[in-house]
Amino acid sequence: MLNRYKKNSEKIAMGLLSFMPEEKDVKKLQTTIKEYEANSNWHLYLWKEADDVIGAIGLRVDGDKAIIQHISVNPSHRNIGIGKKNDSRNN
Ligand SMILES: CC(C)(COP(=O)(O)OP(=O)(O)OC[C@H]1O[C@@H](n2cnc3c(N)ncnc32)[C@H](O)[C@@H]1OP(=O)(O)O)[C@@H](O)C(=O)NCCC(=O)NCCS
Repeated sequence: MLNRYKKNSEKIAMGLLSFMPEEKDVKKLQTTIKEYEANSNWHLYLWKEADDVIGAIGLRVDGDKAIIQHISVNPSHRNIGIGKKNDSRNN
């Protein structure tokens, strides 16, 4: 299930975002997470299964478009369809 990012998940969110090629640099990663916290057009969601956070997706709203800026799945849960999955509440 997708859950909106909250500050208490900052470390896990940063860990997931760091798998993105352009987020390898820690300073860049910190800037990115701050932007998700502060910018009302930036939206970060975490994918949770049971009690584990195993994925993240970050969107930027630009007018009537929502642009996927970040998508990341924990390496031990890849290639089983999580990246392509819909949230069951929004099918
Ligand atoms: C990309 C990523 C989110 C896919 O998550 P996933 O849960 O393994 O994806 P799914 O199992 O739903 O789907 C796998 C498909 O994604 C494709 N894929 C994997 N990495 C990809 C990438 N960087 N760009 C485009 N497609 C990619 C696979 O080729 C596979 O395609 P297929 O079904 O046609 O064979 C995951 O590999 C990841 O976190 N990578 C590191 C972060 C990253 O590179 N993010 C995307 C940058 S564009």
